[in-house]
Amino acid sequence: MLVSAKDMLNKARDGKYAVGQFNINNLEWTKAVLLTAQENNSPVILGVSEGAGKYMCGYKTIVGMVNGMLEELNITVPVALHLDHGSFDGAKACINAGFSSIMFDGSHYPIEENIAKTTALVNACDVLGISLEAEVGSIGGEEDGVVGTGECADPDECKMVADLGVTMLAAGIGNIHGKYPENWAGLSFDTLAAIKDKVGDMPLVLHGGTGISGEMIQKAISLGVAKINVNTECQLTFQEATRKYIEEGKDREGKGFDPRKLLAPGFEAIKATVKEKMELFGSINKA
Ligand code: 13P
Repeated sequence: MLVSAKDMLNKARDGKYAVGQFNINNLEWTKAVLLTAQENNSPVILGVSEGAGKYMCGYKTIVGMVNGMLEELNITVPVALHLDHGSFDGAKACINAGFSSIMFDGSHYPIEENIAKTTALVNACDVLGISLEAEVGSIGGEEDGVVGTGECADPDECKMVADLGVTMLAAGIGNIHGKYPENWAGLSFDTLAAIKDKVGDMPLVLHGGTGISGEMIQKAISLGVAKINVNTECQLTFQEATRKYIEEGKDREGKGFDPRKLLAPGFEAIKATVKEKMELFGSINKA
């Protein structure tokens, strides 16, 4: 059964580790993340962007697929199905479809509007026991065609949004989605410490988990980060494994590639990447 992310994140914050959110794009991706979590006895969060939601037919299809896998793969570790960077309408659609966790990203609105919309969702999620992630200060890079500037969040605004009763808070601290450029200044730990100071026990979320050093990850966890999102790194390893398979030319004479065999190396590559991240985040054997 899908669970809210609340208990797993509170446990992670208290135990000084982070739960990974791995974004899913198709059946193979989902199966790879779930099996890796089970094999490593780790809690896990499946992230779904609105673009991935559309690609996979819609939110109800995803809920059906994930619930089916939980049962038929005998997944017993805690799993949350989470909307990633949701719009207000997307958040409502996922609540109705049966997601167990929602991110409403109101960071591009003026703070008053972000607060008003987040407040409406706090009430809706509370009734249903769904966890809610809010965002202050946009994350840089590109996500589903939206390009952010990588700003650092205002700690006072973070406190205002945390006080609304959300489950977790994503705050920009110089992080960006996708690969970090050569001249990246690194995470702003001064900003993170100032935010932590204001929001107290609120579990914090680090977006843009691809390419952040182990040292920075550990420091972020020590300053209250309890959830780390990873997407690009799984895409890159999937792409590389699939490319290699095609280059090796193991197609069937006149029939083309067997689709199940074609996707198998990418599936294994995602499993390896997810395990590596779970080790880095410290979530193994924390289910
Ligand atoms: P990366 O694509 O940089 O791993 O970031 C993922 C993310 O933050 C999803 O919200």
